[in-house]
Amino acid sequence: MKLLQIFLTAITIIHFTYSQELFELTTRLDDPRLRFLFHRFRNFVFNSIGKTSYKTKGVFLQDKFPDNMPFPCDIRIGKSREQPKSIHKLRPGDISVVGALGDSLTCSTGAMAERMMELSMENRGLAWSIGGQWNWRNATTLPNILKEFNPSLIGYSFDDSFPFHKASQFNLAEIGAVSNDMPFMARALVKRIKSDRRVNFKYDWKVVTISIGGNDFCSFICLMDKPERLPDMHRISLMKTLRYLKNNLPRAFVNIVSVPHVETVMIYPGKPRSCSFIHRGECACWVGPLANVTKESRERWMKIQQRFIQVEEEVAKSEEFRRLDEFAVMYQPWSTNVSLIVDGKRDLSLLSFDCFHLSQKGNAWGGTALWNNMIEPVNKKTINWYNPLKKFNCPTREHPYIYTYDNS
Ligand SMILES: *[C@@H]1O[C@H](CO)[C@@H](O)[C@H](O)[C@H]1NC(C)=O
Ligand SMILES: *[C@@H]1O[C@H](CO)[C@@H](O)[C@H](O)[C@H]1NC(C)=O
Ligand SMILES: *[C@@H]1O[C@H](CO)[C@@H](O)[C@H](O)[C@H]1NC(C)=O
Repeated sequence: MKLLQIFLTAITIIHFTYSQELFELTTRLDDPRLRFLFHRFRNFVFNSIGKTSYKTKGVFLQDKFPDNMPFPCDIRIGKSREQPKSIHKLRPGDISVVGALGDSLTCSTGAMAERMMELSMENRGLAWSIGGQWNWRNATTLPNILKEFNPSLIGYSFDDSFPFHKASQFNLAEIGAVSNDMPFMARALVKRIKSDRRVNFKYDWKVVTISIGGNDFCSFICLMDKPERLPDMHRISLMKTLRYLKNNLPRAFVNIVSVPHVETVMIYPGKPRSCSFIHRGECACWVGPLANVTKESRERWMKIQQRFIQVEEEVAKSEEFRRLDEFAVMYQPWSTNVSLIVDGKRDLSLLSFDCFHLSQKGNAWGGTALWNNMIEPVNKKTINWYNPLKKFNCPTREHPYIYTYDNS
């Protein structure tokens, strides 16, 4: 038993350290034999750990909305009487389909992890942008909020799963994914939505949330010849992805959310030792022996990430995606000044066991922050996250629509 444990822990570490390499092979993984083996391996890991998201106790859980409290918003304002024809008149309840592209942050990796091994489980049902396990009271994710306005919403992940499992639904995120993988993932997403019989492909309104870059910053930036080129490469990849969605996914509203600043979770005094150890594998460009990390190198990466985030906002505002009836892109900035300091103290329960990924609680704060951003006008969007019980926006009679750059 002990031996198995050690073996699995070893796999977990390898799995984390080398997931990048595996995903560099996106094209080679298209080889069915390799993909088969890869899925076999991942299924083996999945079954060895078992589902972890059904825990009911732990510091990693959010504060729940009390049972006797009604849903905070008036759901009658939140849904149009007739399906709108313009994306600038879209209300939350008009959304029928959700989807997501991204990395482990969108996989909700290790949200319920209490042990090293459990960090390999993807608690997708709890993912901030795309999880639909339980309901808004105890899993305050974007889909669980949207479900209150439209109970027939589909696309959210049901519970623990990998992207090739049915329960992942329209969550195409992959651990280790980088910016460059986005166009490929977008094609896979469209294929999955199109082939789903529950979807009226041309008619249904869809919301897709994209969040990518953590691996570019943690694992690749220090291996690049010209790291300063990363933001421009990101721009190309994002434009390609958005153009593809615009031309191939009718009636889509795309959210772009930046990965939080790496230094927020990497650099602070008193980091638990177990986390320092894991971070060496997860974020080798910032800590650990792989790259020659110095204060100067970190500052350099920080500047590049700042530019990367600016690029995401610039791309979202591109003329080519403006004033269209059935497609819009919005940059949602909640993560740009996100802090772990809550009431004057660092709250590590927002993070998973590895002090890197989000816990269930962190996912609930993130899901609510994304929801809040969607119904806040441009230039008035909140740039931090809060306890869902303390800050929960609602559409108003004056402006019941999800904000776009053209109806703000
Ligand atoms: C959340 O609520 C569901 C249904 O009400 C329940 O089955 C589940 O155990 C709850 N989970 C937690 C962590 O409270
Ligand atoms: C680290 O620094 C040493 C000495 O400056 C250099 O020889 C080595 O190539 C560097 N390694 C990396 C990964 O940059
Ligand atoms: C960002 O957060 C810090 C605290 O973490 C705060 O001092 C600062 O004012 C915030 N910036 C903005 C623009 O709100």
